[in-house]
This record gives sequence, structure tokens and C-alpha cells, in this order.
Amino acid sequence: MSTAFLLLGGRVIDPSTGRDETADVLIADGLVVAISATRGELTAPAGGRVIDCEGKLVVPGLIDPHVHLREPGADDKETIASGAAAAISGGFTSVCCMPNTTPAIDLPSTVEFVQMRANASQKARVFVTGAATVGRAGEQLAPMGAMAQVGAVAFSDDGDCVASAGMMGKVLAVCASLDKVFMQHCQDPTLTVGGAMNAGVVSARLGLGGWPGVAEEVIIERDVRLNRGHRARYHVQHLSTAGSVEIVRRARAQQQPITAEASPHHLLLTEEMCTGYNTQAKVNPPLRCDSDIHAIIEGIIDATITILATDHAPHTSAEKARDFSSAPFGMIGLECALPLYIKALVESGAISWARLIALMTIEPARLLGIDGRGLGQLVPGLSSDVTVIDPTVEWTIDAEQFKSKSRNCPFDGWKVKGRASNVFVGGRCLLIRDGVASAVRSSSQSARLDVV
Ligand code: DOR
Ligand code: ZN
Repeated sequence: MSTAFLLLGGRVIDPSTGRDETADVLIADGLVVAISATRGELTAPAGGRVIDCEGKLVVPGLIDPHVHLREPGADDKETIASGAAAAISGGFTSVCCMPNTTPAIDLPSTVEFVQMRANASQKARVFVTGAATVGRAGEQLAPMGAMAQVGAVAFSDDGDCVASAGMMGKVLAVCASLDKVFMQHCQDPTLTVGGAMNAGVVSARLGLGGWPGVAEEVIIERDVRLNRGHRARYHVQHLSTAGSVEIVRRARAQQQPITAEASPHHLLLTEEMCTGYNTQAKVNPPLRCDSDIHAIIEGIIDATITILATDHAPHTSAEKARDFSSAPFGMIGLECALPLYIKALVESGAISWARLIALMTIEPARLLGIDGRGLGQLVPGLSSDVTVIDPTVEWTIDAEQFKSKSRNCPFDGWKVKGRASNVFVGGRCLLIRDGVASAVRSSSQSARLDVV
């Protein structure tokens, strides 16, 4: 039996119901039991624990729809257990992992392997994205129906684009029939041969291969057109250019079933970060320009972009120590995304707290079709995945302290504000940060500080 928790006096924000008020939240037996804005109305049952949430935000558990957990095949970079632990540390109660493992997640048995490892870790919930094509090679359809049957929530060849229009049409048809979202890594590979960073003056100065924004844009444009006949749910992963925002905006205005996600690095870093051949700044799609950042933020403000992800992509220090052209693409994000999004979007005044929470809870839950399981919302009778955020705590990002096995974080050393202080998954308390952020006491005694 899990312990009951009474979260006292926090600002409870649940965009799925429009709730935004100071209230107490009682969770027990894996469910939200009650939420009350009347002080003192709720009491914890005997043996329950009380957490003082004054000055904190109490929100649905955060959901990251785009992470790389590297298992099977590269558990020196990350395991499902270390990635799921990193998620909890960053405030995420659910993550959705990508199929670019070795072997690729392109069979029901591999989906089940990941689910088994995730369950054994007892950390964040891990949902699985199956590959759309066998081996992610883009040539033959993977058994998507069979993978969906064992629980794959989405399909993608992420890491690579489904580049052939013929294959893409087939994938969209299958996804439409299964009512599963297809998440496209938008990159026309014929336009990025030899590319290591954004094509422009900085790549020219550094003598590095350029990767133009149009490589992303032509794929989105093509897929929107292809999808007119299928009307599959189509999602743009890690959108990086102003042109892409424009295409998605137009398609949404025409009622196309298209969504898009942003990543922290595409909101806060530009191509200048690659100066000095800094491989921590090497990512796919590449860091772009200020004008792209502004357009992506505009896209978030006007709800062209409705989802925030991390694209958490762990790599070893040895690999990142290679020269820029041969180092791998990617950066980790699970343990710093929340304050980075707060900085880029809330501190800047672009959007409200409630909107930020929507982009990190109910919106990704709907994308993955897991809202029906009660995730991404804070409603009595539904699942009690809860994140408590301290919006005022100031801290310095220190990758050495991360639960992730990897350290490839370009934000290392940044001073940021805001952090998850408590995280509950299915009613189990999996994070109490330092005992500083929250006092936890047994409801029958008053003063005793306790760590669960
Ligand atoms: O930078 C990236 N790294 N982009 C991707 O699409 C894949 C990812 C990885 O798996 O390392
Ligand atoms: Zn990708």
C-alpha cells in the first residue's frame, strides 16, 4: 500500500481543467483523492505525510515526448534505468523514448524489452516509440500494428528522416489506421551531406560543413501535402527554423492534423556556440540564428508550437572529445530543461506559467494518447503523477551531479531559477530535493523532518 500525501497550500495549476489556485491536494493509493481550495478541509489519514508547498507550484507530472535512452546497445551512454532516474530528477514523471537503439526498436519483442526494463527501474514511466521502418533504414515497413498491440504509443525513425515520399505515404496510412502519431525527424538527407552545423557565416568561418534550414522545411512541406489524403496525426520533432514555424502555422490554419515541438537548445543557443569547435553545441538539427529563436518563441506564443520536449541525447565524453566533424550530434536535457524553459518562456514574459505547464503536461499527453490513462492532468479519481516546482530556487547547472550517465550538456555552469522539489509517480514519492525545498512530516507528529 502506498503512503498518503497531503500537499499543502501550493499554487495548483492544471491546464486540462483550467485550475489555477492556491489549494491542498491529497494523494493516496496511486490516485489524486481530492483537491480543495478551502484551507484545512483536507486532512491526511493516519500515517500519511504532509508536504508544505507554500510558494511552490503543484502541477501534473511533466511529460517529455522525446528522449533517447540508448538501451539496447549503448548502455555506456545511458540505460533505461539511468534515463528514467534523470527524468525524475528533472521533474518528469513520463518520458517517451526513441527507437534509434542498437538494434532499433522495430519489433514487438524489443518494445516489450524496453517496457520490462522501465518497470524494473521503478522511476519515471517510459513509453515507447516504435520505428516506422525496419532497422530505421527507410526501405520496408516495420510491424507497426504488432508493436502498437504491445504498447508502442507512437512511431518515428528519429535520428533519421523517413526520406522517401513513397515510404512516407505508407507510414502515414498505417499510422492513420492505428490512430498513432507519426513523429518526423525532418531532414532531407540529400541536403545535409557533410553537414555538421548550421549553414551560414559561422560554418564558413570555421570551415565546417553547412546544414541548411531548408533541409527541414522541404520535408515538413512535403509531408503536409502527402498527409492530406491520410489525415494521420503528424508531429514535427525538434523544430529549428523560422521557415518551419511558418509552414506549421499555415497547415494548422488549414485544419491539418499537425503538431510541433521545440527543444530548450533551439530557444536559448545559436550557431555562435559552435565557435572554438565546441562539440557540446553539435546537435541535429543544428543550432540556428537569433531570428529563428524569435520565430520559434512567436510560434509558442500563438500556439503553432504546442509541445516542449528535450531531445535528451546522451553521448560519452570520449565521443564528444573527437574533432567537430566526427563527434556525434546531441546533448542531454532531462535534468535542466525545466529551468531553461522557465528562463526562455516565463521569465522573458512570452507565456504564462499555466501555458508553460500545458506545453509540458496535457499537450504531450494528448500527443502520445496517454491522457486517457489520467496522465498530464490533476483530477480527483485519476492517476497521481505530480510534480512540485520551486519557482524561486536559484541553482547552477552542474552536469557532474546529473543522474544521467552522460555529461554532454552545453548548459553546464549556467545559473538558473526554478527546479522540481518533489516528484510523485503513481502516488510514490520519488524525489525530495535535499530536504531543503520541502518539509515532510508524518501527519500525526508535528516537527519531525522525514525523508522518504
Ligand atoms: O542531435 C541529435 N541526437 N538529434 C537526433 O535526432 C538524434 C540524437 C541522438 O540519438 O543522438
Ligand atoms: Zn531527431
